[in-house]
Amino acid sequence: MASISHLFFSCTTTTSPLFPPSRKPTNPKRHQLPKVTCKNNNNNNHLNSKGEKQPPPSPNNNNILGNRRDVLIGLGGLYGSSTLTNNIINPFAFAAPLAPDLKTCGPPTLPAGAKPTKCCPPPSTTIKDFVFPQQNLPLKIRKPAQLVAKDSEYVAKYKEAIRLMKSLPEDDPRNFTQQANVHCAYCHNSYHQVGFPNLDLQVHFSWIFFPFHRWYLYFYERMLGSLINDPSFALPYWNWDSPDGMEIPAIFTERNSPLYNELRNANHQPPTLMDLNWNKKDVDSSGNVDANLAIMYRQVYEAKRARCFFGKPFRAGQEPYTVKVGSGTLELVPHNVVHSWTGDITQPNTENMGALYSAARDPIFYSHHANVDRMWSIWNSFNRKDIDDSDWLDSSFLFYDENKDLVRVKIRDCLDTKKLGYDFLEQPLPWINTKPKPRRTKIERVVKPLTVTKNLDFPFKLEKIVSTVVNRPAKSRSKEDKEEKEETLVIEVEFDRRRGVKFDVLINEEEDAKFATPVNREFAGSFVNVSHVQTSMSMITDTNFSIGITELLEDLGANDDDSVVVTLVPQYGEGVVIKDIKIDLETC
Ligand code: C2O
Repeated sequence: MASISHLFFSCTTTTSPLFPPSRKPTNPKRHQLPKVTCKNNNNNNHLNSKGEKQPPPSPNNNNILGNRRDVLIGLGGLYGSSTLTNNIINPFAFAAPLAPDLKTCGPPTLPAGAKPTKCCPPPSTTIKDFVFPQQNLPLKIRKPAQLVAKDSEYVAKYKEAIRLMKSLPEDDPRNFTQQANVHCAYCHNSYHQVGFPNLDLQVHFSWIFFPFHRWYLYFYERMLGSLINDPSFALPYWNWDSPDGMEIPAIFTERNSPLYNELRNANHQPPTLMDLNWNKKDVDSSGNVDANLAIMYRQVYEAKRARCFFGKPFRAGQEPYTVKVGSGTLELVPHNVVHSWTGDITQPNTENMGALYSAARDPIFYSHHANVDRMWSIWNSFNRKDIDDSDWLDSSFLFYDENKDLVRVKIRDCLDTKKLGYDFLEQPLPWINTKPKPRRTKIERVVKPLTVTKNLDFPFKLEKIVSTVVNRPAKSRSKEDKEEKEETLVIEVEFDRRRGVKFDVLINEEEDAKFATPVNREFAGSFVNVSHVQTSMSMITDTNFSIGITELLEDLGANDDDSVVVTLVPQYGEGVVIKDIKIDLETC
């Protein structure tokens, strides 16, 4: 371990353009933020506030973070110190829990021609640390939206709470638009990372997705309860994982209700059923149930490991849009799909739900996320453990509470919903028994083997269906080995996050085969992006899309094979580049 006496740093602060002149900055304020370069004289590495891609020497995120960590350890955890200010970066901020910097919150990147919106919350001079709610009160119980629809007293209360929230003064942090803007600020680069003013804080595409949204709803729900003087008020959840909850819940479809929002897909009104594999094509939805349940099995039940379920690490000092970062299974599907399916396709960015900047303007957003939050609890109930990494546990967010106090919360404090004062009404989980079946049995595959032999040249644009052979790092693995390590298909994807995108991944299927659907075991998963914003500036994003395939390969009888055939099926959205496809035993 590095000891403090051996560490020596020198730092310089300069103000310089962050972007090459050809690239228009999205945020002029950010453009002028000072850049601090710290030289770690121990190893002659140049560390700067951007933390990567700064020559020389050719840096690699891991190394730099590794160095930061050593420093942190040596300093006994001085990181996250409140001595950070706008202009002075704590040179010891090498540690990696993320935190948003309210002081540098700036305008978001918004659609071309859209009315400029400030997504940042009202300023506050004090930040309170989170205190748990009183522990001896009865738990608030979040119920399925289709069930509360029958409780007229509850519906009246909920409507009244939203009506009151919408009528609060514009600058009240509890105002409905302010609450919608919380989401906009945290997903459209308004916030920068404490200690790294040039780096954005993004709450999607990584392991902070679940906890951020849990905290967001926690405060929103308490605000609603306090506005109607009912501390037992709990949000309803949109039970899209169960056949009786697969429509847009009736409480949100009544015109003139404060819960109504105009900007939704007109073709997806009840009784149309949710399509968790929506490819922007509407077919008769009555057959959707089986595919939806198969998808739930795959995305939640079978995503046994925390890293596959939550997403990849995103630590302070890291760029949010690189192949080091990537969404977990549930964030991609169903979460992203439900957004796209709900938004109004006649709007430029399928607002509201279909674009992240506007999604929370639709009250249904909070019920969608109440179910996302419930999925995390259900996943835990299968005896699966949350991430145990202090960078995740100590990452923090800022929210206003029901008393208009600005509160700092840490991920470690949101792991137990009961401690936060709420739980979910248990509902049947039909999808834990809906494991998909192979489209072709092993015998059929022996009779008519796959003929794909080619390897692809990377990178390539995904414009048509392609198949390739991918070698496996090990075959015929023992049961113990499989329990310890998940075989993971890792796809490096580059896409433009302005655009909605979806492609599917099939295993041991061929380009010209009759393609597998989610009810077939060969259907391994989908990459889905929710449209971000329409700007003229491209927003090239790299991400690591990974899928656990241990059990899937067993079911396909591929245990003893040296390689598998991977087929990518583009469904919608242009500009996807596949940079690599491999199988490893480490990612998930
Ligand atoms: Cu922050 Cu459903 O997105």
